[in-house]
Amino acid sequence: MPQADAFHLSGAAARKYQDHSVPAMFAPLAKATVKKLGLCENDHVLDVACGTGALTREIIATLPGRGRVVGADLNQTMIDVASALTPASSHSVDWMAADVTDLPFDDHSFDVACIQQGLQFFPDKPAALAEIHRVLKPGGKLCLTCWSAISEFNNGLAEALERHVSHGAAQKARAPFSFRDGDLITALLDDAGFRVAEHDIITLHRRFEDLRAQVLALPVEQDMRAKGDAVIDRVLKDIADHLAPYDKDGVFIVPQEAHFFAATRA
Ligand SMILES: C[S@@+](CC[C@H](N)C(=O)[O-])C[C@H]1O[C@@H](n2cnc3c(N)ncnc32)[C@H](O)[C@@H]1O
Repeated sequence: MPQADAFHLSGAAARKYQDHSVPAMFAPLAKATVKKLGLCENDHVLDVACGTGALTREIIATLPGRGRVVGADLNQTMIDVASALTPASSHSVDWMAADVTDLPFDDHSFDVACIQQGLQFFPDKPAALAEIHRVLKPGGKLCLTCWSAISEFNNGLAEALERHVSHGAAQKARAPFSFRDGDLITALLDDAGFRVAEHDIITLHRRFEDLRAQVLALPVEQDMRAKGDAVIDRVLKDIADHLAPYDKDGVFIVPQEAHFFAATRA
């Protein structure tokens, strides 16, 4: 995923995110999240930092009755991909570009708000949670997921980038895992006026069938390409060596863990 401070993604980056990262991680995480979420008939649901809509689409497919579902993301390019993939449904579905700290909704508009792998990228986390609190109805639910540990794939990738490419590229690979402390997230939620009702860990098993294609779909692609093909080969070899314990008949299957929080708005 993109670095924490530069969220202006090109259309090509948004499409690569949808084609590679969504099936590998964000769609399976969305499925696991919605199973735990327990949506109610006719809920109005806001998916903040929705990206290309991995979780939003799962919500649309699962929500009973005729609810309202909104996917909002800072990047118009992500929203463009999301809206092109909107499934047919009985719900009212809207996509919009919006910053989480300035949401274009009235107070108390939603029953449920979700943030799937977005919190770690928000520069002002208390302001983001305060704004979500504002647009949720009293008693409404906030569901959020955030990686709880750096995966061995990203560890191996970051170490290889540090060795062969640059410190900046290694930092980009680590950025999605930069906010992992569950106690800190609980305290942030508490301070923003939420009561944590559930905190659990979701474990995914990410498959790497084509390591080269999957690595070159990441935001570090340009950093690697700038160093030339020989460096790319060295990075890929180091990652493959690092992942050897996860090799199952030529496919690397690597666990990746996320915090799942469900919290109630006071
Ligand atoms: C790792 S992606 C997750 C996207 C999506 N939730 C998913 O599961 O595929 C993080 C998303 O956070 C969005 N984002 C970052 N800062 C934001 C902000 N201040 N307001 C709204 N969205 C933001 C990015 O544009 C990006 O789409």
